[in-house]
Amino acid sequence: MLLSTLLLPVLLIAQDQRMDIFVDNLIQKMTLEEKIGQLNLVTAGEAMTGAVVSTDVESKIKTGQIGGIFSMSTPAKIRKAQELAVKHTRLKIPLIFGIDVIHGYRTIFPIPLALAASWDMPLIEETARIAATEATADGIQWAFSPMVDVSRDPRWGRISEGSGEDTYLGAKIAAAMVRGLQGNDLSANYTMAACVKHFALYGASEAGRDYNSTDMSLHRMYNEYLPPYQAAVDAGAASIMTSFNDINGIPATANKWLLTDVLRKQWGFKGMVVSDYTSVNELIDHGLGDLQTVSALALQAGLDMDMVGEGFLTTLKKSIQEGKVNEQRINEACKHVLILKYKLGLFEDPFRYCNDDRAQQQIFTAAHRSKAREAATKTFVLLKNDDKILPLQKKGTVAVIGPLANTGSNMPGTWSVSADHAHTASLVEGMREVLGQQVHILTHLGSNLVSDASYQERATMFGRTISRDERPEATIIEEAVTVAQQADVIVAALGEASEMSGESSSRTDLNIPKTQHNLLKALLKIGKPVVLVLFTGRPLTLTWEHENVPAILNVWFGGTETGKAVADVLFGDVNPSGKITATFPKNVGQIPLYYAHKNTGRPLGTSPWFQKFRSNYLDIDNEPLYPFGYGLSYTTFDYGDITIDRTKLTPNDSINASITVTNTGGYDGEEIVQLYIQDVIGSVTRPTKELKGFQKIFLKKGESRQLRFTLTEEDLKFYDAELRYLAEPGEFRIYIGKNSSDTKGVNFTFKR
Ligand code: BGC
Repeated sequence: MLLSTLLLPVLLIAQDQRMDIFVDNLIQKMTLEEKIGQLNLVTAGEAMTGAVVSTDVESKIKTGQIGGIFSMSTPAKIRKAQELAVKHTRLKIPLIFGIDVIHGYRTIFPIPLALAASWDMPLIEETARIAATEATADGIQWAFSPMVDVSRDPRWGRISEGSGEDTYLGAKIAAAMVRGLQGNDLSANYTMAACVKHFALYGASEAGRDYNSTDMSLHRMYNEYLPPYQAAVDAGAASIMTSFNDINGIPATANKWLLTDVLRKQWGFKGMVVSDYTSVNELIDHGLGDLQTVSALALQAGLDMDMVGEGFLTTLKKSIQEGKVNEQRINEACKHVLILKYKLGLFEDPFRYCNDDRAQQQIFTAAHRSKAREAATKTFVLLKNDDKILPLQKKGTVAVIGPLANTGSNMPGTWSVSADHAHTASLVEGMREVLGQQVHILTHLGSNLVSDASYQERATMFGRTISRDERPEATIIEEAVTVAQQADVIVAALGEASEMSGESSSRTDLNIPKTQHNLLKALLKIGKPVVLVLFTGRPLTLTWEHENVPAILNVWFGGTETGKAVADVLFGDVNPSGKITATFPKNVGQIPLYYAHKNTGRPLGTSPWFQKFRSNYLDIDNEPLYPFGYGLSYTTFDYGDITIDRTKLTPNDSINASITVTNTGGYDGEEIVQLYIQDVIGSVTRPTKELKGFQKIFLKKGESRQLRFTLTEEDLKFYDAELRYLAEPGEFRIYIGKNSSDTKGVNFTFKR
């Protein structure tokens, strides 16, 4: 072993000690006001997702009342603000600059729910690395990402920003995102600090209504909702953001159990905790007291930095004087902020991220855009493909009809605040560019996004425009039908606008909007092949479409290169391989519907679908429309039987489960092979299936491959009724298959 490898731990300790000494010395020199100033994070004047409280930012920087700024970009602007801090303040402490880098910076990748559908960890990590390269080249060093909230409620608009319903997959993606953003050297000028959010349980807001309360058993929290946050922490995430919601009676931002007992003591988190946008002030509306009271509560609970609201800035000194908070906690919070700045290398060189050349050369490059195109193709999910309508042939005339056909600004999807709308092609533009003269493309709006103009306005905020036609619906549809009649194939570009999911975009009706549905019906009547290219930020209820439309390709919001990527897949240059990571229900009444459910004491077989006095509904069966893990390909994959190399597992060994997968269709393609387990008998009720492994493989047509999955005691562990993390001896079942419903199974036992 090289001497340097042996010395590495020693060097790291020495580095940490140097940092501690530096930061502690600095804190000793700071006045109380200066320390409180470090805890204040402001926007530079533009309202983001709520009111802006901070005024007079410039003079506040100079007087040390600001620790960081968010949503400011470009080296020039950031240099100017940073100069105010390092030239004018007494102690010359640099500012930190953050922004929402959720799925790309200027080059936008598919929305996170789509990226999850790729099940491709190296790809996800790479998208985050590219985003970090671009954001840091634009002067920023702190990303409010990854968003790791597990959600089983597609009414909640923010399901689009996370990885879906699954704990295990969510944890893997959380870690991949942290690795991608932070790399292994936070001080490098191309890596940035991650901020895991929204801690915690934001994805379980009651009724899927944004910001709503969460009430959840500890057992469910520890087993199903907390692991992705913990995985991000374990991967070294430098910061974490508290969530807006109330958790069992105490809002996350003031929740000492959550921020101190779980995060710091149980998980050993050493980074910085920031609030969400005005979430300290919002504790007033939660009913916890006035601004001074709630600011003190949040600080004492373990919050370090206050985003936008300035409750810390304006009240903490008074609270100290009145003995309501202790200075020790302020020192600790300040230390967390300063350590983050130190690790980012800002004390060494406050301008290390301010390089105009880099901004010119590394943002929105051809290479990044081509990765975005590739990534998008890997996220599309083929939901249906009767009679092999897809892929289309590159010839003849195709009519691309619908409100999503000609809008570039909607392609990036929600939470793409730094997107370049002017250079984002619409679906039709992208298709024309890829197909050139080979295919003649006709197009028409077809219908409005929704018939209600004010709803359309709410659904197309932040410049995500979709043109509107105020003539009667029938007239617009009739005109579109005339265009579509001239084509050989009709592509219906329908679904949601980008801002129909994301923050404050919950919905109670998850059908394709009625006016678009009417358009689709009219297009189907023409009698030509119809492909539904579905834009959505969440699972929609597609029961009617599934019954009536021959082919459905769900393209989510694919980012900057959506248009070209859709052409790549529709015309067969790329074989789709994405698989959904959130269950698509048949109707809204089934929600929450997720594969890792428990059995109940009255479980239901599949046939008949209704039995009196079983756990079911009178009007619809319990099955989803598309189960978790589902997605088709242009080829077909055949799964052999599972073989296991032992039937008894003990703590000292492992069990190997093997299966042979064969590409039996006419195209080369990628397949996502999934492994689930069931703990058949437990001291507490256990889910009927839990994902514990997956492999993404590429098989040429006709090719077979034997895959091996290895399980150990670790994979069988869960939190029991006393929250002990352990594996219980007994019977287990392994399932391997193409999705959570279509699996083969085999049993084994675990023995101590
Ligand atoms: C969102 C966060 C985001 C923050 C800053 C809030 O409204 O909940 O996800 O990071 O704004 O933009």
